[in-house]
Amino acid sequence: MLEIHNFTKRFNGRPVLFDFSLSLPRQSFTVLVGPSGCGKSTLFDLLMGVMPRDGGTLAFEGEEIPDLRTRAGYMAQKDLLLPWRSLLENALLPVAVKRTPSAADLAEARDLFRTLELSGFEKHYPWQVSGGMAQRCALARTILFHAPAALLDEPLSAVDAITRQSLRNLLLLLQSRFEKTILMTTHDVDDALFLADRIVILSRSPLSVKEEIHLTGTKPRNPAAHDLFLLKTRILNSLQETTS
Ligand SMILES: Nc1ncnc2c1ncn2[C@@H]1O[C@H](COP(=O)(O)OP(=O)(O)OP(=O)(O)O)[C@@H](O)[C@H]1O
Ligand SMILES: [Mg+2]
Repeated sequence: MLEIHNFTKRFNGRPVLFDFSLSLPRQSFTVLVGPSGCGKSTLFDLLMGVMPRDGGTLAFEGEEIPDLRTRAGYMAQKDLLLPWRSLLENALLPVAVKRTPSAADLAEARDLFRTLELSGFEKHYPWQVSGGMAQRCALARTILFHAPAALLDEPLSAVDAITRQSLRNLLLLLQSRFEKTILMTTHDVDDALFLADRIVILSRSPLSVKEEIHLTGTKPRNPAAHDLFLLKTRILNSLQETTS
């Protein structure tokens, strides 16, 4: 459904990506894991057209497109929220750029805030809430974009263990209920084992696919199950080789 072909990006002459290719099947959940600085966020920014790439093409359902701007919700790793808008206004931003939010839009956003344990903070500003709350609000905004795909750059990095588990469940729900194609990054291998249909292990530099692991079986999964535990060891070893 989504074909990334030969993406290339240089910073100060140094290629962070060089002929990087990856395809994402429709309604798949792909989790990228790789060392810090290998180019994951750069890849997402290129996909969303936040910055221009130096080469490569992108095809969505067979049609060549410049970027995913209108086809994917994007939860970036940083600069998540607009400081002058309340949490609810931030979450409703994808709607507000198109039209004045309706009562139904507000009801949907409030419902999502309940699920994300943000009720009572609708009128707070981003600088008045914790990093994890801001992150959950950014996730709400990505969901309210109602696009066929979602790009999530470390969406679970700033939350505690309990919230992490409920957000993981929410992401699974998001994928199955809204039939989304999801591309996500994480530094937590358990996130990947819990959520992914496919784990892509990346190495630097320039960014390349070191290994792809396809996971089967029904979700939610238990990362502590024996077979997944063995897989976790394998992934951690692979990451260690990549980093060292
Ligand atoms: N705007 C920029 N100008 C120059 N170099 C940049 C820029 N953005 C990223 N880089 C460099 O590109 C490389 C990849 O950065 P990127 O943020 O994509 O990594 P990452 O895989 O997302 O890392 P992390 O896991 O820490 O989030 C790094 O070496 C970084 O310093
Ligand atoms: Mg990053």
